Amino acid sequence: MGFSFFLFIIYLYFISSVTSQVQDFVSIDCGGTSNYTDTSTGLAWISDVGLMSQGKSVQVENPNGNLLQFQRRRDFPIDSKKYCYTLNTVERRTYLVRATFQYGSLKSEDTYPKFELYLDATQWATVTIFDVSRTYVNEMIIRASSDSVDVCICCATTGFPFISTLELRPLNLSMYATDYEDEFFLKVAARVNFGAPSKDAIRYPDDPYDRIWDSDLVKRQNYLVGVAPGTERISTSRDVDTRSREYTPVKVMQTAVVGTKGVLSYRLNLDGFPGMGRAYAYFAEIEDLGANENRKFKLEQPFSADYDSAVVNIAEKANGDYRLYEPGYMNVSLEFVLSFAFVKTPDSTRGPLLNAMEISKYVQIAAKTDRRDLAVLNVLHFMAAESLSVDEGDPCAPTPWEWVNCSSTAPPRITKIDLSGKNVKGEIPVELKNLQELTELWLGGNYLTGQFPDISNLINLKILHLENNKLSGSLPSYLASLPSLQELYIQNNSFSGEIPAGLLRGKITFKYEYNIGLCKRERKQKHFKLIIGISVGVVATVSLLLLGTLLLLRNLQRKSSFQRSNGKGDSLRASTKPSTGYSISRMDEGIACYITLPDLEEATSSFSKRIGKGSFGSVYYGKMKDGKEIAVKMMAESSTHMNKQFVTEVALLSRIHHRNLVPLTGYCEEEHQCILVYEYMHNGTLRDHIHGLHSHKKVVL
Ligand SMILES: *[C@@H]1O[C@H](CO)[C@@H](O)[C@H](O)[C@H]1NC(C)=O
Ligand SMILES: *[C@@H]1O[C@H](CO)[C@@H](O)[C@H](O)[C@H]1NC(C)=O
Ligand SMILES: *[C@@H]1O[C@H](CO)[C@@H](O)[C@H](O)[C@H]1NC(C)=O
Ligand SMILES: *[C@@H]1O[C@H](CO)[C@@H](O)[C@H](O)[C@H]1NC(C)=O
Ligand SMILES: *[C@@H]1O[C@H](CO)[C@@H](O)[C@H](O)[C@H]1NC(C)=O
Repeated sequence: MGFSFFLFIIYLYFISSVTSQVQDFVSIDCGGTSNYTDTSTGLAWISDVGLMSQGKSVQVENPNGNLLQFQRRRDFPIDSKKYCYTLNTVERRTYLVRATFQYGSLKSEDTYPKFELYLDATQWATVTIFDVSRTYVNEMIIRASSDSVDVCICCATTGFPFISTLELRPLNLSMYATDYEDEFFLKVAARVNFGAPSKDAIRYPDDPYDRIWDSDLVKRQNYLVGVAPGTERISTSRDVDTRSREYTPVKVMQTAVVGTKGVLSYRLNLDGFPGMGRAYAYFAEIEDLGANENRKFKLEQPFSADYDSAVVNIAEKANGDYRLYEPGYMNVSLEFVLSFAFVKTPDSTRGPLLNAMEISKYVQIAAKTDRRDLAVLNVLHFMAAESLSVDEGDPCAPTPWEWVNCSSTAPPRITKIDLSGKNVKGEIPVELKNLQELTELWLGGNYLTGQFPDISNLINLKILHLENNKLSGSLPSYLASLPSLQELYIQNNSFSGEIPAGLLRGKITFKYEYNIGLCKRERKQKHFKLIIGISVGVVATVSLLLLGTLLLLRNLQRKSSFQRSNGKGDSLRASTKPSTGYSISRMDEGIACYITLPDLEEATSSFSKRIGKGSFGSVYYGKMKDGKEIAVKMMAESSTHMNKQFVTEVALLSRIHHRNLVPLTGYCEEEHQCILVYEYMHNGTLRDHIHGLHSHKKVVL
């Protein structure tokens, strides 16, 4: 009683595991327009409408059979792109993935489709439709390496790619476990039910895992030919115990072929071979042998040193009749044409028997794009979501996404990203620093914000385009020493601070105009030295105190006009030595920056809004591209005296930061025009504060 209770528990366990299995079945009717339950199996099918936005749903003409899932198919364009379905998986769980293709009838102008099927980055099959009414079935047994797998269709050589159904069936227990499952998928080449009562395949619900067991009555070219004389079909209605590793369906085991003349032989073509494969034979003694009878046979063909001497005695090996025995070759070399023969041993009274067999090919798993690279691409893709076409599957394999290029290494690495003008919004992901093989990054003309990205690790980066964005902050000092960098475009952003000196030495093509606040220093040329000592004593209600400051201004190079493009122009080098009291800002802060005249004209709408007039000239209101409000002081006249004064003011103001002193933002010298640019103060200016005035309209500098 204890033992039968134990068996009962085992039975319940198996039933419940199989029941939960079905809930995890995914059955996609590609091109289907609705969800439905297949009445023949009770399985739920879903339309791929929510899963695939590409291609079009097409009515199949003259579908073979009346299964709903073959009434429509999904056709894809003929182009260099790939079209992928993403199926959710549980990592390390074993699955059967099945894709089927039934074309229907061929119109006169159609050509027979031939295209590629991929599972993730791994080539799965070349789908070649010779017989338009046949349902071509491709099955792959995989152990999921992540939380999803992609089934991709691409690369049509004739006709156009299409798909009829896509199914995902979790397998259980140790089914199909091999020593190689991290490196190889198992592509099913043949799964045959011998002695089948009809041409119908056996699958769910007879097979709880919904494997397809083809009937040996199906006639196909070079499929199960060369049948030995005396081959007979037998069957039983008795239960067969199939609880071994692969859980062959009982129905499959209840039929068999027997070589009554002592030989059982067949020849068949194995799709995908030659190669290394896994071959299993499924045996169960389903004839009642008399007391003096026995059934013993050997595999004589193909000859294998390991197995040729192994005598199969089913009942002995299976520990009884009506029990499954499943010997197999785990790793055997097979040709495209498989000829096999079981031959009875001389002392056997019955001929050989075969219930079923299954042959799969080991398919080396091709590496997917490096995970770190993928993570960056996913973020960028999200940032550009609106402007990119749907990108499916792996970024690199089998065909790369439109906006990336990949290395041909394993795993593939991203070598180029081109998202110029793709409405990319937000900050450049920090993970960018992981793209170590990146040689080109094109991100110009977007809405990128935040700092200059960390590219210090990108030793292969040759070309970096960040122009026409909204990036800000300073340029990192390592830029000039990046080993491969040849081209750096950062124009029309809001970068500020000092340009790292090495960038201007000409080794790198460097474009940086239209960056308010980006400044450069020249250390080489000395035009004149100007030593300014200024003592300013200010006692005011707001306690501005400037006692004495000695400013050493040297290496001031002046030219009458600034040439944006050649990277040579006016620059200012100020070095200060405070003689007393006043704290001077750090060297790299407060360097007044050169602003070009066109930029100022744009900011002030061509000097249209005058907000004040002082002894030196007029002051105009302006607003820079980055939103910063400015007051632009235009010196009335240019003279030596003015120039000196100009230099003084630039030097002084750019060094001193005080909360009540109007900060100098920049300066401009062009065509004998001296212009100073200050931050616009809504609450008046230094002078207002000194005099206790609060004029909002009149700003006097
Ligand atoms: C079979 O798979 C189900 C999930 O579908 C799982 O809950 C169950 O534990 C598995 N059974 C065995 C024996 O591994
Ligand atoms: C079909 O089922 C899927 C998954 O359950 C669901 O997302 C989709 O909206 C359904 N489609 C229709 C047309 O009912
Ligand atoms: C099978 O055996 C061959 C050598 O006979 C070996 O090279 C190969 O790695 C093995 N495994 C697979 C999955 O092919
Ligand atoms: C990058 O990819 C594009 C499109 O896929 C291709 O036309 C181009 O030749 C590739 N460039 C390089 C440098 O590989
Ligand atoms: C600056 O970039 C913006 C987009 O950020 C663009 O609309 C504008 O035309 C660019 N200006 C110049 C002078 O290139």
